[in-house]
Amino acid sequence: MARTAVRSSRKRSSLLFLVLLAGAQGQTVIPTLPPLSASVAAKPIGDSIFPALGQAGLDVLNYDLDLTVDRPGTSELRGTVVLTVTSTQPLPVLSLDFLGPQVMEVRWNGLPAPYRHDQVVGKLTIEPPQPLLPGMRAEVTVRFAGQVGVRPDPYLPINVGWQAVPAVGERVGANFTLSEPDGTRTFLPVNDHPSDPATFTTRITVPAGYTAAASGVQLSEVAAPNGGRTFTFEQVQPIPTYTLAIHVNRFERVDSAAVPVGKGGADVIRRDYFPVGIPAGTRDAYVSTGEILKVLADWFGPYPFSAYGSAIVTPRVPALETATLSTMPVTSSNVRVVVHEAAHQWFGNRVTLADWSGVWLNEGFATYAELLWAQAQGETGDDMVRGWYARAGRNQTRPLVATTESQLFDTTSYIRGALALQAVRVTVDDAAFKAYLRGWVSEFQNRPVTTADLLTYTRTTLGARAEAALRLWAESPELPPLPEK
Ligand code: ARG
Ligand code: ZN
Repeated sequence: MARTAVRSSRKRSSLLFLVLLAGAQGQTVIPTLPPLSASVAAKPIGDSIFPALGQAGLDVLNYDLDLTVDRPGTSELRGTVVLTVTSTQPLPVLSLDFLGPQVMEVRWNGLPAPYRHDQVVGKLTIEPPQPLLPGMRAEVTVRFAGQVGVRPDPYLPINVGWQAVPAVGERVGANFTLSEPDGTRTFLPVNDHPSDPATFTTRITVPAGYTAAASGVQLSEVAAPNGGRTFTFEQVQPIPTYTLAIHVNRFERVDSAAVPVGKGGADVIRRDYFPVGIPAGTRDAYVSTGEILKVLADWFGPYPFSAYGSAIVTPRVPALETATLSTMPVTSSNVRVVVHEAAHQWFGNRVTLADWSGVWLNEGFATYAELLWAQAQGETGDDMVRGWYARAGRNQTRPLVATTESQLFDTTSYIRGALALQAVRVTVDDAAFKAYLRGWVSEFQNRPVTTADLLTYTRTTLGARAEAALRLWAESPELPPLPEK
């Protein structure tokens, strides 16, 4: 059954009256009114891998989240989200991705607005009083409560999005986000596509004894009812929705010395979150984080956000480069993975994808960072490159641009992607290659990228030979020969 909630407030004044009346009598009355009048179907962004995601022309500037986790370790979530939106084309309706908890209320600039929530398809359609025109801004409020939505990963034994970790033995129940590629819509109404990054203010209220963590810088921690606490975080640089980190756990937060690798040498705040009761040795992998940021900032340019660290999780899931706070399973707590996720802060989180087919632009660059780190430790890196080539040879290969969802996180995205960058590097000297990497970040940090962008950029910065090398690695159906100087 399609659980579809329909509510309309065409007659705004009479609805308001009903609500006031209901309030006065202490009841909740959901009036049955005609469905949305707008027959205009919203157009999705047109992602080649996920054609239904997002809304074309919608530009979310900021998400202001006020979330409450009453029972950590369960899938229960309630909250209010205020989206600040604008558009690049006239939008008669707003169409947000949302599989998540039941919608209780929607407001457009403070007034109740008609909406339809289809939790099966995962769209929340909202009708504004007037179409949203380019240059206009609106504040859209969505209040919701209940069970989060479910979005199974077709290739891993997990659901992406809001994770519930039940209590086991001494360990308390916990929650965290693991949303790549489109899991944020399991718990928030979002334009769930990396081509529309936005800023976030995240407030999370948790029960007594719990700590909340989220992407960005913590602004405050204040008392909430029943001994609970409310934590507020601000992420002032835009990030893709899938990179939003939220954690609720019994954590020990460890603050380390700030690292002066931000823009103009600005300090980057360093903090990591370790769940109480994890193996003692887990922390060893994170001791080098500051040094890693320095090495990567030297190659990629200033670290793009205000803070960096890791939040460690106990389930066996893939590590994820959640913005400013990578999500690191205990079992992936090693320096190589720390380097990889740190590099994604530049590649994926700051330089974002225009289309999921270009995901190698995230994974290839992050994998390549593992080589740069090894070389900064005094290794030649030759073994690593040969190891990559052997591994690529043992696996099926394909051109770098992915054509199916199953290809997104395959060996080609990671390993052939990294080898493609090595193929560019051997055509020039290291100074030129460094300028190339830094320029890619600085030129494209506000413009979602495609493989075609990188090819053009390679030609204009490094010349025709470098572009030809990249093109061979990007487009050849077979694995090209091992790149050598
Ligand atoms: N981007 C992550 C990493 O390589 C991998 C995420 C895999 N996610 C998935 N749904 N298969 O750091
Ligand atoms: Zn990665």
